[in-house]
Amino acid sequence: MDHMDLTNRVAIVTGAAQGLGLAITKRFVMAHASVAMVDINLPGAQEAAQNLLSTGASVTAFACDVSDSASVNSMVNAVLDRYTRIDILVNNAGIGGGAQRLQDVTDDHWHRVLSVDLTGVFYCCRAVVPHMIARGSGRIINVASVAGKEGNPNMAPYSAAKAGVIALTKALAKEVAKQNILVNVITPGVIDTSLINGLTPEQARYLIERIPMGRIGRPEEVAALVHWFASDEVSFSTGAVFDLSGGRATY
Ligand code: NAI
Repeated sequence: MDHMDLTNRVAIVTGAAQGLGLAITKRFVMAHASVAMVDINLPGAQEAAQNLLSTGASVTAFACDVSDSASVNSMVNAVLDRYTRIDILVNNAGIGGGAQRLQDVTDDHWHRVLSVDLTGVFYCCRAVVPHMIARGSGRIINVASVAGKEGNPNMAPYSAAKAGVIALTKALAKEVAKQNILVNVITPGVIDTSLINGLTPEQARYLIERIPMGRIGRPEEVAALVHWFASDEVSFSTGAVFDLSGGRATY
């Protein structure tokens, strides 16, 4: 029996138009899952979905701003209308927020990063968890960052939001531990997506110099770990924090 097979499972992947979300979607499709490709960039999600549909995949693009609770709730209802069930939720959508010293961060900037990177995870979990409880099973994988464990200088809003995602994961995992819902969080280091184009050269140097393996990660490496968490191979890990940082994270 293939414990990595996801036949008949339905996954929501947020931020699926590109980068890690698209790599996770492709990996789920290879495992025969149906995937709701959720993104604020609907044309981008639709184009990515179209490319996968042409290979026979079961995917649908959904527009959603994860920082808007009404948008999240209507997206989850639309996914249930389309697929009738949700087995897997990957909270991946996020923004980096650029580089500012803490004293230069504006109110708007702080609230924007927190609302997408942390509140968005809360809204999506809140909308999906009752459905998973009713079904008696579910897998939630949150995408935080090593910034949430160590704190990156000049990225206070992002680091704080990602630390919040780690704590949210642990709290929710304990709440639903007896209901066959596993909630885990991954904390990638630098991965090769367009998100890192927003880094200043100093930021990029700071982050890459700290990687003992001497290279940045690939989206496919992140997708492989998320797939494992979504699969039946994982049955006794919940509220756990897993690194993909080329050895940077030391705890
Ligand atoms: P990306 O910028 O390539 O993709 C992010 C996706 O999220 C985009 O498709 C974007 O349209 C979508 N998105 C942004 N705001 C949204 C919103 N309000 N509602 C719905 N969708 C929204 O970035 P990447 O690298 O793929 O990042 C994915 C996740 O991985 C993020 O949470 C990021 O913080 C995290 N991460 C990335 C690392 C990296 O080095 N690339 C390292 C550690 C964590």
